[in-house]
Amino acid sequence: MKKAIELLKKHNLLKIIDDELDINLEVPHVAYVEVKRPDSKAVLFTNVVDKKNNKKFKEPVLMNVFCNEEAVKLFIGDGNKIAAEIESLLKLKPPVTFSEKLSTFGKLFSLKNTIPKKLKGKGECQEVIKLGNDAKLSDLPVITTWEEDGGPFITMGQVYTQSLNGELKNLGMYRLQVFPDNTLGMHWQIHKDSNHFFHEYKKAGKKMPVSIGIGGDPMYIWCGQAPLPISVFKRMLYEFVKNSPARLVKSITNDIWVPEDNDYIIEGFVDTSKLKIEGPFGDHTGYYTLEEEFPFMEVSAITSKKDPVFLATVVGKPPLEDKYMGYATERIFLPLLKTTAPDLIDYYMPENGVYHNLILAKINSFYPGHANQMMHAFWGVGQMSFVKHAIFVNNDAPKLTSHDEIIRYILNRINIEDILVTKGVVDHLDHSSPKFAVGGKLGLDCTGDEIQELGITLLEDTELLNKMQNITNEIRSLKQYYKDTKNPICVISVDKKRSQKYIFEDLKPLFPHIKILVIVDEKANDLENPYMLIWRVTNNIDSNRDLFIEGNTLCLDGTNKNSFDNFSRRWPGDVNCTKEVIDSLRSRKIIDVDDEFIKKHQLY
Ligand SMILES: Cc1cc2nc3c(=O)[nH]c(=O)nc-3n(C[C@H](O)[C@H](O)[C@H](O)COP(=O)(O)O)c2cc1C
Repeated sequence: MKKAIELLKKHNLLKIIDDELDINLEVPHVAYVEVKRPDSKAVLFTNVVDKKNNKKFKEPVLMNVFCNEEAVKLFIGDGNKIAAEIESLLKLKPPVTFSEKLSTFGKLFSLKNTIPKKLKGKGECQEVIKLGNDAKLSDLPVITTWEEDGGPFITMGQVYTQSLNGELKNLGMYRLQVFPDNTLGMHWQIHKDSNHFFHEYKKAGKKMPVSIGIGGDPMYIWCGQAPLPISVFKRMLYEFVKNSPARLVKSITNDIWVPEDNDYIIEGFVDTSKLKIEGPFGDHTGYYTLEEEFPFMEVSAITSKKDPVFLATVVGKPPLEDKYMGYATERIFLPLLKTTAPDLIDYYMPENGVYHNLILAKINSFYPGHANQMMHAFWGVGQMSFVKHAIFVNNDAPKLTSHDEIIRYILNRINIEDILVTKGVVDHLDHSSPKFAVGGKLGLDCTGDEIQELGITLLEDTELLNKMQNITNEIRSLKQYYKDTKNPICVISVDKKRSQKYIFEDLKPLFPHIKILVIVDEKANDLENPYMLIWRVTNNIDSNRDLFIEGNTLCLDGTNKNSFDNFSRRWPGDVNCTKEVIDSLRSRKIIDVDDEFIKKHQLY
């Protein structure tokens, strides 16, 4: 971490805060606000306390290490260049089947310096060794990010695991809840590699060894979140990208090898016969993930450098640090996706679609149904299969990241008859699907020509709102977007008193004036803030339940779901900052934010 800090300093990418700040809410709130700025920086907190437990920490806490694209380039490299290298390697000897392609990728790793150096003896991360009762998680400056979090969570832990026979190894990035009894929650979600390993140990009735790295080269954390298949050890990405071997040492109390330059290593074993309630936790969807049973680790050792730095991140409403990490991942995985979908030109997962809620893909469309064929390919591959909404455009489309232009291109091509609605695996965190982890998929094939004018008569916002309010007083406000396209969008906010399908029915007389109707709750939504509206709506809809079509009019119900919708799961709350904490940080001049910033990012 010290090297990373020097690098950040050299590039003017680091803020140092020496004021005394609490690891409960204050430290993470500062980092949260900072990373939302256009010129965001990493933040080093040098004077960190835990007021609740009357504790002062000697080690500093670093947050937002991937604070912007420049920082990502410093620590990972240029995503486009790495992608080009991967692509050229993949073209060496084209594999035929998809599984061959994946295993070829693993082999390609080994072409490039991917044999790590296993050191004899102890490493830098083992300069201080605490065993048994001396290994206390409460000695670490672990942050509590949000007021409704179930406790403190390690948010940037590298979780090293291996299969029961030791042949497969994994590095995954999962949040880890610190429980009062010195155990650590293992939030590996149902689809993730370490969860598969866990079930192997459970079946065999054995304890599972786990070691967790914190700090060291920031590259490890990026590797840990990369969506690679179970057969590929993600730490090898480190060697592949850096073109130099990682230096590993064996954990002191289990057999897991870890990078020696980590600032901390937490070692232990998971008793596979036990689970514990984990959460709630304010997650990267911008919603809380609710309490759920997860495995937990009994700590057997905590080792560290002599002067360690503790690394953490904040997740919540976008944009945050995962935006920048995700951007690099997206670039580097383009050539891999192309092996499954050769006619793919580019793709883009906007951060306000929180990655699994929205993807835009540009393809060379050669035949009718080509886009649909590729959508199914995406929905069938690894973590890409979690994506809920896919919009495909043709090779003549503007750049996918040119938001205004690409939206116009799409809206001029949405043909209601061609909308694909299906069902499949959704992210573990998806809260809108009627059943856990299985939900609706919506595909828009916009690869065709512009659609015909549909002869709707547009009205001014106030006139349309008046007409709607004459039909029902549940409608509170209205704003139309992209009125100059073939599919203008009309967003309304409602005071929800029933299923929105009835509102859609009631508004039928106005359909000659509406093409796409989007409904959101009045509370917590701002119709003037399209960035946050996209975040909300893509989060909240399950297309099998929330898409209504009548003639040429389409409606998306982006409201929170409840018994009116026959929704029986618990609906989580928004992740919000604590106002008193923001006020206090503002009055102490630790953060500099105005009311407009607070409103724009819906801090609370
Ligand atoms: C900041 C951040 C936090 C994450 N937290 C979790 C988590 O708690 N649980 C989880 O399963 N995945 C989490 N992920 C996503 C995983 O890191 C990612 O899906 C990774 O590819 C999983 O690797 P695996 O398939 O080897 O398990 C997180 C990603 C980021 C960037």
